[in-house]
Amino acid sequence: MSIPIYTYDAIVVGAGLAGCAAARELQTAGKKVAVITKLHPLRSHSGAAQGGVNAAFSDEDSIELHEFDTVKGSDYLADQDAVEFMCKNAPETIRWAERMGAAFSRTPDGKIAQRPFGGQSSPRACYAKDRTGLTLLQTIYEQADRAGVKFWDEWYAADIIYKDGKVSGVVAFNIRDMQMAIFNAKSVMFATGGYARCYKINSNAHANTGDGLSIVARHGIPLEDMEFVQFHPSGLSGNGVLISEAARGEGGRLYNSKGERFMEKYAPNALELASRDVVSRAILNEIREGRGVGPRKDAVYLDVTHLGKDLIMERLPELRELAITFLGLDMIKEPILISATAHYSMGGIPVNIAGNVRKNNDELIEGFYAAGECSCVSVHGANRLGANSVLEALLFGRYVGKTMVAEVDNIELRPATEEDAQTTLKEIDFILNNNGDERVTQIREELQQAMTANAGAFRTEETIKDAIKTVKELRERFKNIRIKDKSKVFNTELQEAIELGHMLDYSLFIVESALPRKESRGAHYREDFQERDDKNWLKHTMAYMDENGDIKLDYMDVVLGKHELKARNY
Ligand code: FUM
Repeated sequence: MSIPIYTYDAIVVGAGLAGCAAARELQTAGKKVAVITKLHPLRSHSGAAQGGVNAAFSDEDSIELHEFDTVKGSDYLADQDAVEFMCKNAPETIRWAERMGAAFSRTPDGKIAQRPFGGQSSPRACYAKDRTGLTLLQTIYEQADRAGVKFWDEWYAADIIYKDGKVSGVVAFNIRDMQMAIFNAKSVMFATGGYARCYKINSNAHANTGDGLSIVARHGIPLEDMEFVQFHPSGLSGNGVLISEAARGEGGRLYNSKGERFMEKYAPNALELASRDVVSRAILNEIREGRGVGPRKDAVYLDVTHLGKDLIMERLPELRELAITFLGLDMIKEPILISATAHYSMGGIPVNIAGNVRKNNDELIEGFYAAGECSCVSVHGANRLGANSVLEALLFGRYVGKTMVAEVDNIELRPATEEDAQTTLKEIDFILNNNGDERVTQIREELQQAMTANAGAFRTEETIKDAIKTVKELRERFKNIRIKDKSKVFNTELQEAIELGHMLDYSLFIVESALPRKESRGAHYREDFQERDDKNWLKHTMAYMDENGDIKLDYMDVVLGKHELKARNY
């Protein structure tokens, strides 16, 4: 079977906010661009962002405060030059989104409404009710489509073409019929999203299996700060579905089984609006110490009843629907049950501010870019502030698109050949024809259980070592899988097997990166080393997978700046 080769100036993988924003920039600059996405673009996970997008433009706020909150929230691991760039350009990004057609909620005098979010000194999250991500995604996708971007939706990007320090395309197949194709391009951008699906309770879409990270890592490209995985304080009890921080931003309160507003103990000033890592650990601690609520005593109460029906219906209508649908609880009338849920990956594919992917601490890869949650720029450091991710995706997606426009004409197209698809062909052949006795669903379940129990919001040397052992064993067992569906039409069993391979690989990065970091910083909380240790650990982890699949660690300096290191209290 011959494999078609399509040629473009630029290929973008992923059609969330970062991917659509970049593709639109490229297309409107006259470049030939295609977006490859395993979903329909409007099903991308950016659409699940509920609460808001940050920009400091009110009279009480300032760019410097936004920077300070972001750096403090990051537990000082964020690179301050990148934070400065993001915060400075945030107001213009909101105005741009508005010009593109995004309808934000307004104040009575017609300004864009902004609500408080955790860890922020001022109400800064611009919002569209509690559907901010969806509003923005619909807008930016429509504008990319209108500009003429070619979307290859329901195509699965399986590999990059990477040789001699240069990326020159993507190998993908059509999920509908398994037709394989090579997308040859001068430049490639990854905007493939996050990876919290390796945890049992998570807020992520089924698609968030970290494909992009494992694809690049298998080529020896590093992944940065993978040990920092954010747990959002409020996922619906039992399934982790996101209940936006907007609920607490609008005034929601947390109570334990004794009726105590327990955040008074953990964050006496900010209370429910401390940073996410602090609130999540507080909730989990209450549950661990026996003050949980609900039938399994594995939740706490989130109470917004005092806000009243009108406010809830105006600003939090989707959250109300979600709690009714999944728990049968109406937040207008009663508290709902929530607990921490794996939500966001601070780490990812290392990039500079312009979006060029790093080959190592000193060199960049020609023709390769990344933005959004799959990347690590690093504006979030060890813990991201709520409403900074939508900002990051929109802002860096657009700016990385501009970088690609500026650089693409200076990159020579390296012609692709069918040989470039060999790794993908072998991977698919292995999954379709391997005749072992392991099931994909069973290995995935065990992975999620192990990551949750041993590499979650609380960790120790012992639990991390357990997790490493389990992930390694599961990777061995993966070699012995068998799938039942051998067909070529919407073979989701095959796709899930490929995704599981990715989940196993990036999970090993998470746990191997976590083991030596003998400190607690942001989302990486070591019960055996509870203090932040700037002397030894104020550095980024750079993890590499070698040809045997083992992880080797290196470290990279943090870019410091005017915001000086301090103890982080809320
Ligand atoms: O709580 C939320 O609405 C989530 C927002 C975010 O992760 O930035």
